[in-house]
Amino acid sequence: MKKVLFVTCSLALSVAMISCGGPRKEPGRAYMPDMAYSRAYETYSSTEALSSKGINYTSTPVEGTVARGEMAAYPFKNDSTGYARSAEVKNPLDSASRDMKEAERLYLINCGICHGTKLDGNGPLYASGVFPAAPRNLVGDPLMIAMTEGTMFHSLTYGKNTMGSYASQLSTKQRWMITAYVKEQQAKKTGTAAPAATAAAAPAPAAKDSAVAAPKK
Ligand code: HEC
Repeated sequence: MKKVLFVTCSLALSVAMISCGGPRKEPGRAYMPDMAYSRAYETYSSTEALSSKGINYTSTPVEGTVARGEMAAYPFKNDSTGYARSAEVKNPLDSASRDMKEAERLYLINCGICHGTKLDGNGPLYASGVFPAAPRNLVGDPLMIAMTEGTMFHSLTYGKNTMGSYASQLSTKQRWMITAYVKEQQAKKTGTAAPAATAAAAPAPAAKDSAVAAPKK
């Protein structure tokens, strides 16, 4: 009986001593720490910690730099000066890389809905009354016929009033292809010659700019 009492008392005492040990400062052992503490970079979290280590992830490219295989960047900003000076910029694509068949396809996908398959500004979105602002008649409006490819490119890149920007949907090369297509259609309509392709205009490592539709995975 005495023995039982002794064992019970000492057990109770040791439990009391353990539970009164004060706050634990060590986290103890973590089994599989990679699962306990995520190494993933959380969405929308600040990237300052990464940039301080020199890892510039998701930052925009350094201004004035050109990615490999890409065309030189359009030099003007989206302001009135940029719009006025856009006329100076010539289409850098040579006639081979204009690929009018592909340009027509791109036009029909991206522009035809408003400007119409005949480029007359009467596409189904406008004709049906869904889109309220009249798209330009690209082949009948003297202003459009006089407009240089550079200015068209500027408007495609930055948008113009109710027309949105196409810089994220169409690569630089695709935008130049479309302006060449518009000019060709104007020339057909008015019976004048389309402006000749001048490859000398801008430094254009154009050949591999084939970010056409499918982004590289
Ligand atoms: C959602 C309808 C819509 C789509 C799609 C659209 N446009 Fe437009 N576009 C407009 C409207 C509206 C205007 C007139 C904008 C203004 O001057 O107020 C316009 C104006 C223009 C102009 C004259 C720009 C200027 O500087 O005055 C050009 C050139 C043009 N569009 C070409 C295109 C091409 C090429 C595409 C395809 C990549 C395209 N648009 C797609 C609605 C559209």
